[in-house]
Amino acid sequence: MTLRHFLRDDDITHEEQAQILARAARIKAAPFTDRTLVGPEVVAVLFDKQTLRTQLSFSAAIAHLGGFPMIVDGKLAQVGVRESIADVARVMGREAVAIVWRTYGQDRIEEMARYAQVPVINALTDDFHPCQVLADLQTIQEHRGDLPGLTLGYLGDGANNMAHSYLLGGALAGMHVRVATPSTHQPKPEILERATELAAQHGGSVLVTDDPIEAVRGADAVATDTWVSMGQEKEKDHRQGEESPFLRFQVNTELMAHADAEAIFLHCLPAYRGFEVTADVIDGPQSVVWGESENRLHAQKAILSWLVEQHRNGESA
Ligand code: NVA
Repeated sequence: MTLRHFLRDDDITHEEQAQILARAARIKAAPFTDRTLVGPEVVAVLFDKQTLRTQLSFSAAIAHLGGFPMIVDGKLAQVGVRESIADVARVMGREAVAIVWRTYGQDRIEEMARYAQVPVINALTDDFHPCQVLADLQTIQEHRGDLPGLTLGYLGDGANNMAHSYLLGGALAGMHVRVATPSTHQPKPEILERATELAAQHGGSVLVTDDPIEAVRGADAVATDTWVSMGQEKEKDHRQGEESPFLRFQVNTELMAHADAEAIFLHCLPAYRGFEVTADVIDGPQSVVWGESENRLHAQKAILSWLVEQHRNGESA
């Protein structure tokens, strides 16, 4: 039986990533043609952290595919507190055809996947945000063409989920991924190592630097993310204060001038103008953030329907 999950960006191969992105583009052009979840089949969508875009885009994605989104508030369910992750997984796997979870530790979602018996999708953990990066890759492709060989510069917190997912997802696509971050906020070594290996396999490269200009020089796409990720609220004063280690990594027009003249600006949102990005960049002509946000819907429809299809095909084989 084929049971595949999307817990991190490299849970799919280079070829599968390209297929899923092509599927996302097809779905975008003809939104109601894929009816994989007709029934309606139920998809459980759980949130242990705050959400807006993810709840919206997964609810819409599941509805468009003909299914029903069963939204579960993590505060009520208390997964791993009230009952074990394994038991929650066993219960949900009996009623839902897939599970989408936004949670803290990557170990939590891995455990869910171990027991669920249905595909599990990572809707953000402390370590990865693979659905966002799929949407970002779709956006880059729309504006800058074929992904292999393109350069993406990411600036800000190099140790957060977006940095990790850009490293893995971008390298898997054969892109040149450059991360500019202070020495105190480096990506996890094992993720960097894996990204380097993937980049070598697919003709891309990976660079981590503390020089923001080096990361954006000639880049086709420039991305950033909040300096205060969910779960880091206690560090807000330090991360956004006058002594913030990230100040040098702000994306502003001066920095954007070093990128390719046609470079696009990406941000997963929510954005904090005046911190990681200035208003003139995010609200300016190079910004594609609203289209990027919409692509969450299309990319998630693609990954969800693809995983459910893989599972069904495996069961009937
Ligand atoms: N790094 C951010 C991403 C938000 C979509 C966070 O984890 O809060």
